[in-house]
Amino acid sequence: MNQAQEIRKIGVLTSGGDCAGLNAAIRAITMRAETGYGWRVLGIEQGTAGLLARPPRVRALTASMFDGALMRTGGTFLGTTNRGDPFSYPMPDGRKIDRSGEIIDAYRALDLQALIAIGGDGSQAIIRKLARQGDIPLVCIPKTIDNDIGATEVAIGYDTAVAVATEALDKLQPTAASHDRIMILEVMGRDAGHIALAAGIAGGADVILLPEIPYKIDHVVGKIAALRQAGRNFSLIVVAEAAPDPDGRTVERHGRYSGVGHAIGRRLEDLVEAEVRVTVLGHLQRGGQPSPRDRLMAGVFGTHAVDLIAQGKFDRMVAWQNRRAVDIPIEDAIATYACVAPDSPLVNTARGLGISFGDRPAA
Ligand code: F6P
Repeated sequence: MNQAQEIRKIGVLTSGGDCAGLNAAIRAITMRAETGYGWRVLGIEQGTAGLLARPPRVRALTASMFDGALMRTGGTFLGTTNRGDPFSYPMPDGRKIDRSGEIIDAYRALDLQALIAIGGDGSQAIIRKLARQGDIPLVCIPKTIDNDIGATEVAIGYDTAVAVATEALDKLQPTAASHDRIMILEVMGRDAGHIALAAGIAGGADVILLPEIPYKIDHVVGKIAALRQAGRNFSLIVVAEAAPDPDGRTVERHGRYSGVGHAIGRRLEDLVEAEVRVTVLGHLQRGGQPSPRDRLMAGVFGTHAVDLIAQGKFDRMVAWQNRRAVDIPIEDAIATYACVAPDSPLVNTARGLGISFGDRPAA
């Protein structure tokens, strides 16, 4: 039987933290579904929370909605949430209850024949569990600025985040040089240092501190001293938010990484004779206009996801491998968490450029 003939209407939702390129992905899904297969598309608002609402929070999506600027904008116009696991949903009275059945009921009531979820590994794991329980034909699209989903070389949002962090270094460098200062830039990435590594290389950092490569503050001090000896009056340091502080402790606030840049800055102020300033880039990395590459990947992933539904291929995540769109079982796709390998080509590149990871005495 031709699977495409059975489909009349599909749902799409974004889940987890937002990032640049989500609207471009929703656009690609809508365009492909409507113009390629004649299907209707329903956008589900606020991720799975939209299916917990009564009536469910949804809106019809049409290709004509995307004629304008929408795909060029950051965020997700459908809204998203990175809280409220439906299997352990926090209630106002403090209890946590399983509300998965309500989501499945809403999905069925909407008369959808398939669902596309755009999310990171955590969201995909939860939505896959829902899909299995409710027999929902599901395809996932990877998005995360952290780029930590092992099965895909790139997730939507990463490229824009790297561009924002690189631009921050471009802007910090002249002011660092003007004032003979040490500038520390703290970037996001959760437990993975991909943003710090890529932006550090592209933005000409002198030191990159990652959660994956243990460092000693004395080696950082040594690198700054070596630069000064060579006649350089400023230093640029990029630190990933999950890198430990100089005492080896993770710096967290309310369960989120935050503050390691300041912790390192305070220690350096005691150890070097230079002014230190710290910039925490934060959610600027998630917002803003999606880069051309993120829009491109959104287009690739969105159309491939719809094509998978047409082929009756479900429980799969689309991915980018070896210059092609591929698809793999969601379970396998999210099984490998991709950190920076200390011997990865980009780490070697950085070392080749004289960038210190604070793990060795300065050359
Ligand atoms: O996973 C994406 C991410 O931006 C991480 O890099 C960061 O640690 C976290 O989300 C921030 O989450 P929130 O938006 O809830 O502060």
